[in-house]
Parts: sequence; structure tokens; C-alpha cells
Amino acid sequence: MPLLEIEGLVVHYGKAIALEGVTLTVEPGELVGVLGPNGAGKTTLLKAVSRVVPASGRLSFKNRDLGPMPAHKVVGEGICHCPEGRRLFPELTVLKNLMLGAYLRDDKDGIAADLERVYGLFPVLRERRTQQASTLSGGEQQMVAIGRALMGRPSLLLLDEPSVGIAHRLKNEIFRAIRDIRDSGTAILLVEQDARSAMAVADRIYVLEHGRVTHEGTPASLADDDSIRQAYLGV
Ligand SMILES: Nc1ncnc2c1ncn2[C@@H]1O[C@H](COP(=O)(O)OP(=O)(O)OP(=O)(O)O)[C@@H](O)[C@H]1O
Ligand SMILES: [Mg+2]
Repeated sequence: MPLLEIEGLVVHYGKAIALEGVTLTVEPGELVGVLGPNGAGKTTLLKAVSRVVPASGRLSFKNRDLGPMPAHKVVGEGICHCPEGRRLFPELTVLKNLMLGAYLRDDKDGIAADLERVYGLFPVLRERRTQQASTLSGGEQQMVAIGRALMGRPSLLLLDEPSVGIAHRLKNEIFRAIRDIRDSGTAILLVEQDARSAMAVADRIYVLEHGRVTHEGTPASLADDDSIRQAYLGV
């Protein structure tokens, strides 16, 4: 049984249509990548899953209908969203930002264990824990945003363009962490414009163009497709 099942998902912004019937699944523990050009609807897809924007169609998680569920309940179901542009609280410390991800929890030991997990993935955050988030580099801030989402102990992590605008070295570190998170059993729905990096880590890929899924398959099968190679891999 899939962890996340989306069928015929439609999202409108006023009269404009952003998603035109998207069907997609994520299996437990799977890392699924979503590629697509600017404006394709990638961010909208993640926002629909976390119920930040209204959507029609079928949206089910662990076999439960997410449709009627308000956004603030979704985290409690096990879906944590690391949004586009990171959205940290710049004046708060790294540690306070991380702890905001655990705001629904009261299991002290579990929270402490998850904080250790985040510091294990991103050791620099332990060193910087008392620093204001605004003083971190872009890549380090992205690590905080991912760490904050992990502090909700998700079974599905939604990642929106974690590598955008980040220096090469930190980008590698972030993709290594994404793979580690999947290897530890957390399913991930990863939106990326860096097709090469996404295809290197993902188990399966969907290509979203103009609000529709145009291709899906394993990274290897998509890399065999000439149109995908030209449009997304530039070769
Ligand atoms: N709040 C909004 N109000 C109106 N239109 C919106 C809103 N948010 C997104 N859109 C439109 O919906 C479409 C899909 O946007 P979305 O942000 O999902 O694309 P994206 O694939 O994430 O793009 P990018 O790669 O630039 O982040 C675009 O045409 C966008 O202009
Ligand atoms: Mg986007």
C-alpha cells in the first residue's frame, strides 16, 4: 500500500489552473523526485499535500483521506514540509528554529534523540546552535530548514528545492543528508530544478510540466529518454 496516494489532483489560483489532474504515489521509505521548469506547479503540489492550498481530487496518506484535514493537523499525521525559500525565523537561534519543528510533541526523550539525529546529519548546526539563524550561510540555513522539518519526526518529508542558490560543497552535503534520511526509513517527496542531483538520489522521478505529469519512471529509464536528456540534463 502506498504511503501517499494522489489521484487527479487539481489546484486553481483564482481563474488560473496550477495543477490539472496530477496522479502520483510515494511508497513507504521511498525517495521520489519531482522535476519541472519554473511555474510547472511543483511548489503547488507540495502545498496541496500539506493542505496549505485547497485542492480537489484524491489525496490519501496511510490510507486516510487528507481532503478534509486542515493544514495544522497534517504535521501530526506525519507529513513535514520544508518549504521553498526556507522560511526560518532569522532573529531566533538555530536551536530555537529547530525546536519549532517539534512544537506538537511532548515526548522529551524522543525530541532529544531527534535533535541528536539532526546534529548527526549536519554537525555544523551543533556548533552554531546558539547563533542567530540570520548569521548562517544560505546552505547552513537550508540545513536548519531540513532539520526543523525532521524535528516533527515525519514519515513523509516534503522538500522544496533544497539546493537552490547553494554553494557546491554544501549542496553535496545536503544531498548526502537527503540520501541518509531516506536510508533511515523516512519517505521523501523532493522537488528540484537540479535534475542531475535529483536523479542521482531518487528511487523514482515524475516530470511535471504545465500542471501535468508528462513522464515518470526510474532515473535510469528517464535518462534514456532523449527529450528528458535535452530538457533537463542538457546533453
Ligand atoms: N498564490 C498564488 N496566486 C496565484 N498564482 C499562483 C500562486 N502561487 C503560484 N501561482 C502560479 O501557479 C503556477 C505554479 O506555481 P508553482 O509555484 O507551483 O510553480 P513551481 O513549479 O514551484 O515553480 P518554481 O520552479 O519557479 O518554484 C505558476 O503559474 C504560478 O505563477
Ligand atoms: Mg517552486
